[in-house]
Amino acid sequence: NSPITIAVDGPSGSGKSSVSRAVARRLGLAYLDTGAMYRALTWWCLERGLDLADQTTVAAAAKDLDLRLSTDPDAPEVRVAGTDVSQEIRTTRISGQVSQVATNLGVRAELRRRQRALVEELRAARGGVVVEGRDITTVVAPDAEHRILLTASEEARLTRRTTELHGTSTQEQLAATRDQVVRRDRDDASVSAFFEPADGVHGLDTSHLSFEESVRAVLDLVAHGA
Ligand code: C5P
Repeated sequence: NSPITIAVDGPSGSGKSSVSRAVARRLGLAYLDTGAMYRALTWWCLERGLDLADQTTVAAAAKDLDLRLSTDPDAPEVRVAGTDVSQEIRTTRISGQVSQVATNLGVRAELRRRQRALVEELRAARGGVVVEGRDITTVVAPDAEHRILLTASEEARLTRRTTELHGTSTQEQLAATRDQVVRRDRDDASVSAFFEPADGVHGLDTSHLSFEESVRAVLDLVAHGA
């Protein structure tokens, strides 16, 4: 079997992380969460007290970052300089500041370089990888065998993210999440286009699909050559 790369992009709350992980598990492929890399770098910069607005310093920190990712879809683990930060990088403290790091072009050049190297390594070692983020279908792996952009209405994305965070989605919780999610997507969209599928990329709208239906739809696209 020749190696395969499945590239998945999408905005926050489109379901791309959980769906990508499930697809990797079912196909027996590695799983690479590129968002976790931007989050880990943000955590490290804050830990060291760096000013995130200082682009030169933050880009230098990206080059020095001692980052280890487990690419097992059942146990994705993120370590920075030996510390397990898997939980901490998901907090609102990091979500609220990660875009400032991810819009730093020096940071993007360094993390994209590492992501391309990881994809090559995982193709050779594990037969392939499901790699997800914002610029995977367009910049990191434009030659991937399969390229999919997951989208969902703003309402569906907000409800999912809110339920993920709180277990429920009251009006107050929805309003608080809206601030974060909508602002983050807008900031992120200034450096990557992930609201519309690029040429040759398959768009999949998950607004009205359950988790299981979304996974099956992606598996179908892969089976039929999307
Ligand atoms: O996917 P997730 O929400 O964990 O991504 C966290 C952040 O990392 C995004 O808000 C974005 O700023 C950045 N990111 C990126 N390019 C990617 C993946 C994530 O800029 N390929």
